[in-house]
Amino acid sequence: MNKHLSLPLYKTPSSLLSDEKFFTQIDNNRIHSKNANGHSVRNVFIETYGCQMNVSDSELMAGILTQAGHKTVADIEDADVILLNTCAIRENAETKVINRLEHLNHRKRREDNLIIGVCGCMAQHLRDKLLKAAPYVDLVMGPDAYRNLPMALNAVASGDPFLGLQLDKSEDYADIAPIRKEGIRAWLTIQRGCDKMCTFCIVPFVRGRERSLPLHLLTDDVKRLVDEGFKEIVLLGQTVNSYHDGDYDFGELLWRVAEIDGVERVRFTSPHPADATDSMIDAMENCPQACKQLHLPMQSGSTPMLERMRRTYTAEEYRELVAKLRERIPEIALSTDVIVGFCGESEEDFMATYNLMEEIRFDSAFMFKYSDREGTLANKSLEDDVPETEKARRLNEIISLQEQISAEINQAIIGKTVSVLVEGDSRRDKDQFHGKTDTFKTTVFPKENAQIGDIVDVKVHTTTAHTLIGNIIGDNC
Ligand code: SAH
Ligand code: F3S
Repeated sequence: MNKHLSLPLYKTPSSLLSDEKFFTQIDNNRIHSKNANGHSVRNVFIETYGCQMNVSDSELMAGILTQAGHKTVADIEDADVILLNTCAIRENAETKVINRLEHLNHRKRREDNLIIGVCGCMAQHLRDKLLKAAPYVDLVMGPDAYRNLPMALNAVASGDPFLGLQLDKSEDYADIAPIRKEGIRAWLTIQRGCDKMCTFCIVPFVRGRERSLPLHLLTDDVKRLVDEGFKEIVLLGQTVNSYHDGDYDFGELLWRVAEIDGVERVRFTSPHPADATDSMIDAMENCPQACKQLHLPMQSGSTPMLERMRRTYTAEEYRELVAKLRERIPEIALSTDVIVGFCGESEEDFMATYNLMEEIRFDSAFMFKYSDREGTLANKSLEDDVPETEKARRLNEIISLQEQISAEINQAIIGKTVSVLVEGDSRRDKDQFHGKTDTFKTTVFPKENAQIGDIVDVKVHTTTAHTLIGNIIGDNC
């Protein structure tokens, strides 16, 4: 247990984890199954905030809970355990969760048995502060402690709040089978944690040191995923392309995954520009299943700001990397992350970012105002000195620039044929399907005779800022 914390960390009595025979008992109009030790089988609802890594961790948590005999439910009203899997990356992500907890507490006042847990990055970041802000929370658990979830639920049911916040650099959950939603795209965590220490970022502090999963386990996972019907694999990691397992690097992993029978497409997120090796670029260029799409976080177009951020590349190096990628893979779609208003960002620095975005013309971008995070290197040694109104102005400027560029790039696709992996019914019209192009653009089209999981050719006739609209041509009409 972390010695700064005031609550006990429970050891796992192995008897609590074994799932013996179940029996059922009626209790407050809710049916509880129990094992022979009398521990309730819980109906758990997991609500996920933040990045795709959290979505993947929620699937892992569902796997751990299911293995221990609990059930995950799709409707929060059916739950007697609600776990929020949280994000700490910016302040507003944390505010959202605190508001949600307040709301859930109303229900908890009516339902004695309801367990509320906060898991993930915010749990790790705020620790005992979280319990002060929301004292009714029963369970607080960081990203390396999910193995303890079943034991934690038992402890809470016996009246003891539970804290599990130790970071563990050996924890990779390699032996856990996540429970994935049905679909055609599976997200596969290949690496946990981050060693980069960008000065603005809380991730290394809440997710711990970087660790890669063994390649042979990952390829086994992919074979299983294909057997379950998944067609597209997205490899996930904080700096996914720094993956390594002995002599195997990320390029090798891409090839190995792509070559598995039944894998139609493989993509990954998010790479770090400094780790964009030739081996990665070769695999993207030459491997037919590797999607011609890259999310390449830039953060700033000003070298002095990149230095302050400790991004380990200059604006010129970033520009050269983009040029190399476009030379080798001309059809590549690029997206990025940008922060405005970081400590000391002058108008000139901001304009360097604006100009580089205008020059590169990303297909899309996630854009953020800098949010000071307690515990980061910037928080300790740099001043958050750009006024909030100025941050907002700069953000609005790059958002309108990017909207215009994205719309223009999409408009240029009108009349062209794109290859789309069919994912499911369009939300707006059940007679239409939606899917993604190789370049990760959402496309909507009438179903014709296509089936979910097919790759179809769609001729684009209209576009919005974020969607391509067209008709299937060829065999599937
Ligand atoms: N390497 C990770 C980064 C995770 S954070 C990945 O892409 O998977 C995602 C993005 O949030 C970062 O690229 C950065 O642009 C933004 N971000 C991180 N910390 C931030 C902060 N303190 N304020 C504003 N934006 C931040
Ligand atoms: Fe954060 Fe930088 Fe790692 S953005 S996740 S410290 S690469």
